Amino acid sequence: MKIIVVTGGAGFIGSNTVELLCDLGFHVRVIDDLSFGYRDFVDPRAEFTQASIGDREKVLKILNGADAVIHFAASSIIKFSIENPAFYIQNNILNGTVLLEAMRETGVKKIIFSSSASVYGEPDRVPIQEGDSKRPLQPYGATKLAFEAILSAYYNSYGIESVSLRYFNAYGPRDEQKPATRAVPMWIKEILSGETVKTYWKGSQRRDYVFVKDIAKAHVDVLDLKGCHVFNIGSGEGVLMKDILSEIISLTGKSPTVEDQGERMGDPKILVADISSIKKAVGWQPKFNLHDGLLETVSYYKKRLNL
Ligand SMILES: NC(=O)c1ccc[n+]([C@@H]2O[C@H](COP(=O)([O-])OP(=O)(O)OC[C@H]3O[C@@H](n4cnc5c(N)ncnc54)[C@H](O)[C@@H]3O)[C@@H](O)[C@H]2O)c1
Repeated sequence: MKIIVVTGGAGFIGSNTVELLCDLGFHVRVIDDLSFGYRDFVDPRAEFTQASIGDREKVLKILNGADAVIHFAASSIIKFSIENPAFYIQNNILNGTVLLEAMRETGVKKIIFSSSASVYGEPDRVPIQEGDSKRPLQPYGATKLAFEAILSAYYNSYGIESVSLRYFNAYGPRDEQKPATRAVPMWIKEILSGETVKTYWKGSQRRDYVFVKDIAKAHVDVLDLKGCHVFNIGSGEGVLMKDILSEIISLTGKSPTVEDQGERMGDPKILVADISSIKKAVGWQPKFNLHDGLLETVSYYKKRLNL
């Protein structure tokens, strides 16, 4: 049985991936400092250690005998990264490097890294291909791009294989960001609680939404890939934010008041992934359409909020 260490496994995407890995029979060790995650999100079949990836001694112990690392742990609220870039550099790059050094010391030779579409900034064209220009708009995106570069160096210098997965817009159960900044969970909670729903740009931005269970599956699919790779993870299709809102409204059966907040700075008009590279490399492609993914997400929040 393969032993997989999952950093940030108590968070949104991490906990969904841990569940899938356990279902598939992997032995999973989670390390999460619970700065943003939730202990009860971690599948009971997984081992859990509450610690930071910057804690070298604890990381060395957890890595002992592991076959691979799936690295979700990071600070990921864009607004906070603009307010405190040094903290984001510390956690996403320097603490991440403690993890890489511990991998070197323990001989763990494979890491799957959560990168982000934010490495691209305002795209030259859509759909965006992995080799397109990268001009991060905020420190968060810069930390992701920097860590991808570090992974490339660790492959070339020490043979540590890596796959960086640049997620576009993730959505699904257990998206409990504190504070909530992502549209889908915010809208669902606002609609279910009878609050006014807030939009920007009258919902005219086009985005690429990918369901969290599809993202989780991508991590499993690339586990045995040799070398050092970077892939986009999205649906490959752009959807207008106002159409997502309409779908959520129809799934909840409510009639919320919608208030548009106007234009928002630093918000690209359109972000859509070209996902042909990962499809070609390992055959991964999303299985959930937006309707089915949103249906599962709405059911989750109904239960969570007791509504
Ligand atoms: N959710 C998205 O739409 C999205 C998009 C692109 C990239 N990402 C990236 O995917 C990863 C997972 O995102 P998420 O939405 O699940 O975030 P999340 O905040 O729900 O999960 C991150 C987890 O990492 C933990 N953590 C943070 N710093 C840590 C540290 N130093 N040591 C140990 N644990 C630590 C947190 O407690 C949390 O449980 C992150 O790296 C994020 O930047 C997310």
